[in-house]
Amino acid sequence: MNRRLGVLISGRGSNLQSIIDAVRQGRLEATVAVVVSNRADAAGLDRAREAGIETRVISPRDFADRDSCDRAIVELLEARDVALVCLAGYMRLVGAPLLKAFEDRMLNIHPSLLPSFPGLHPQRQALAHGVRVSGATVHLVTSELDGGPIVKQVAVPVRDDDTEETLAARILVEEHRIYPEAIQTLLDGGWSIDGRRWVPGGTRGRHA
Ligand code: GRF
Repeated sequence: MNRRLGVLISGRGSNLQSIIDAVRQGRLEATVAVVVSNRADAAGLDRAREAGIETRVISPRDFADRDSCDRAIVELLEARDVALVCLAGYMRLVGAPLLKAFEDRMLNIHPSLLPSFPGLHPQRQALAHGVRVSGATVHLVTSELDGGPIVKQVAVPVRDDDTEETLAARILVEEHRIYPEAIQTLLDGGWSIDGRRWVPGGTRGRHA
């Protein structure tokens, strides 16, 4: 696969920033070709503009249904020759057209040790459950919410006095480290999918 990334965001964009920084510092051999947001007010758009990266707002409000919105995203990503899509705080469910166009070529990062605590407010879910360890997971995106093959995972301790905010901040530090690493791993190729598992070794990702 080529090494052109499309990053989809909805908000703050700190993971986008970690990708931009890793590319700049040569830790991630890739180019961020385009950043797409479903919201015009996403702070991450400014981060992309500051880095000289093309940005585009594709809002579901401008489309009749999810599929036509997703088709517009696919059209843009394909026009920019994107090989790998990275969801980075993209707060929308990915529909069939996007899933199909980028099957096994779309990553997401989630702030929990999946399969624990998928969906919204994973840090709040972790605290409510009283787990002693949580973390972050980078996984391939499938039709199952936060349920695709796990590429990289890191554990983070949960402290007795944690709030949702303190736990989120501790996890975020690790997110910023593992997301660029996972992207590099996928782009390097030489992996495969075995059932629901992502496994190193194999021929996937070597050719686009
Ligand atoms: C991160 O915690 C990410 O794991 C989750 O949403 C948050 C996005 O933060 N999917 P940011 O926009 O990257 O700062």
